[in-house]
Amino acid sequence: MDRILEPEVMDDPEQVLAYAQANFEAENQGFVDRFLELYDDVDEAHILDLGCGPGDIPLRLIRQRPACRITGIDASAPMIDWAKRMAQEAGQQDRLTFLCQKFQDLSLDVPADAVISNSLVHHVPNPLRFWYAVKTSLKSGGPVLVMDLMRPESEEAARNLVERYASDAPARLRQDFFNSLLAAFTEDEVAAQLAELNLSRLMVDVPDDRHWVVYGRVY
Ligand SMILES: C[S@@+](CC[C@H](N)C(=O)[O-])C[C@H]1O[C@@H](n2cnc3c(N)ncnc32)[C@H](O)[C@@H]1O
Repeated sequence: MDRILEPEVMDDPEQVLAYAQANFEAENQGFVDRFLELYDDVDEAHILDLGCGPGDIPLRLIRQRPACRITGIDASAPMIDWAKRMAQEAGQQDRLTFLCQKFQDLSLDVPADAVISNSLVHHVPNPLRFWYAVKTSLKSGGPVLVMDLMRPESEEAARNLVERYASDAPARLRQDFFNSLLAAFTEDEVAAQLAELNLSRLMVDVPDDRHWVVYGRVY
């Protein structure tokens, strides 16, 4: 099945509300646990989160590593507003910074110590620009963790995944999940993208039936 693009930025208020109120605890905590299991030199790091959405992952991470600083960027103003509010309510606004901008326009004075990104890549028309941003915003030797949905073989397979993992979710969230599966990349496509940008030292893994994960250090 060919990739079917979905809109890049999630800034429709109904969509933002459905996404921000959804229960992604298992996925998001799993992402944070994986990051901390992989890397033991991030306790005081400045971590960049590309496409941070409502900020749940940065918030979970800062609670476990309170000496970190995390900058989340997202092109959606309502997502960033939500993330800022969450940070304020948690009293973490000094260590969490949320900026409304596209990663394609990102330019840091000082490269980040680590880069993370969850569930952004399938939104991006040209994924090479995403990997280029990872490469250029990270210090040499910095750790990376990127995770996203994996495109299934057919629309029917995508529908089955929505049934298996989101049968109780609101209609908008189920529709977004389905569209995201169709817009996602396969493991082979991700490996080819990394090779094209000389990032082949990064590893690509498939941890379950609907995700791929990329990790390693960029030199
Ligand atoms: C599915 S959400 C994932 C949010 C968050 N990482 C999470 O795991 O909950 C994808 C986010 O990427 C954002 N996004 C899409 N294209 C972007 C771009 N070019 N630059 C920055 N953010 C972008 C969307 O607005 C959306 O908030």
